[in-house]
Amino acid sequence: MKILAIESSCDETAAAVVEDGKIILSSVISSQIEEHKLYGGVVPEIASRRHSENILGVVDEALKKADMELSDVDAVAVTYAPGLIGALLVGVSFAKGLSMSAEKPLIPVHHIAGHIAANYLAHEELKPPYLCLVASGGHSHIVEVLNYTEFKVIGRTRDDAAGECFDKVARILGFPYPGGIHVDNAAKLGNPDAYKLPRPSVNGSPYDFSFSGLKTAVINLVHNLEQKNLTFDKNDIAASFQKTIAEILVEKTLNAAKEKGYTNVAIAGGVSANSGVRTLLQSECTRNNITLFMPPLSLCGDNAAMIGCQAYYNFLSGIRADESLNAIATLSLENI
Ligand code: KG4
Ligand code: ZN
Repeated sequence: MKILAIESSCDETAAAVVEDGKIILSSVISSQIEEHKLYGGVVPEIASRRHSENILGVVDEALKKADMELSDVDAVAVTYAPGLIGALLVGVSFAKGLSMSAEKPLIPVHHIAGHIAANYLAHEELKPPYLCLVASGGHSHIVEVLNYTEFKVIGRTRDDAAGECFDKVARILGFPYPGGIHVDNAAKLGNPDAYKLPRPSVNGSPYDFSFSGLKTAVINLVHNLEQKNLTFDKNDIAASFQKTIAEILVEKTLNAAKEKGYTNVAIAGGVSANSGVRTLLQSECTRNNITLFMPPLSLCGDNAAMIGCQAYYNFLSGIRADESLNAIATLSLENI
């Protein structure tokens, strides 16, 4: 089954053709990052406009690269939640038009379910149930993947998402948006033990995260050093921050896996590209006899191949949409 998938929930306009949830026949991503960089973050109105301008070309290219016409695909899939409402609406409206005109089934996909599904594209042997750490620009979850379309969120952030925290730390260190990759690169050159930073936890909710205190601690640290005219190496701050956030993410995920009895763990979302998180999670999983599944770096960030993969499993379990499909800005993974 060949699915044409569309993703437009944030600042990437993406389309892909995926066969049977496994084989990526094409994957095209048009990023708006260069433009949003000027403003230090995503400007929703600009994002919607650029999606509208780009979507036709991106979908055309995805079909061309797969050597297909619209009539050759078996279904059209689209990210309908969560995300920027105006951005999502562009993809949803376009997908509805394609599905109606070509008379193909329409499959709605939850963005976070898509991130998790990126793992199936890389690891054919991975099958639910397993535990997944989801860390992106908008979400930080510990998720029990009960089956391909049912999820139980057992941990969530009470304030900032992990990616948001990376981006804010990057900004105070003078790196451009989105800053996660720059913090990652700087951390490789710094001393991770140079600064001791707080590890906030949430009373009574052992798997929940709270990152705003860590973010504020880094901002205060930099301000203090600057006010005292002290010289400092921003690589050391990046390395200390990355070590701290990686330890928080990994410790809670491992605790959850051990307490819930999971021997398979996966990671998903933009922050799963982080070298510190990947290395620590791998060594802790190995030490605890847990098998770890990670998407390749090319599938960690937003893309439509992951949406096409999840759409296949949604289709198999009977999830369909019609012309009444709407975009939803906030939607729990448990209500897809
Ligand atoms: O999943 P994603 O592409 O978009 C959302 O669904 O939010 O995640 C984007 C986030 C951004 O905050 C970005 O800075 C972060 O992922 N990110 C990273 C790295 N690459 C991307 N954070 C840390 N280290 C990285 N290498
Ligand atoms: Zn995402």
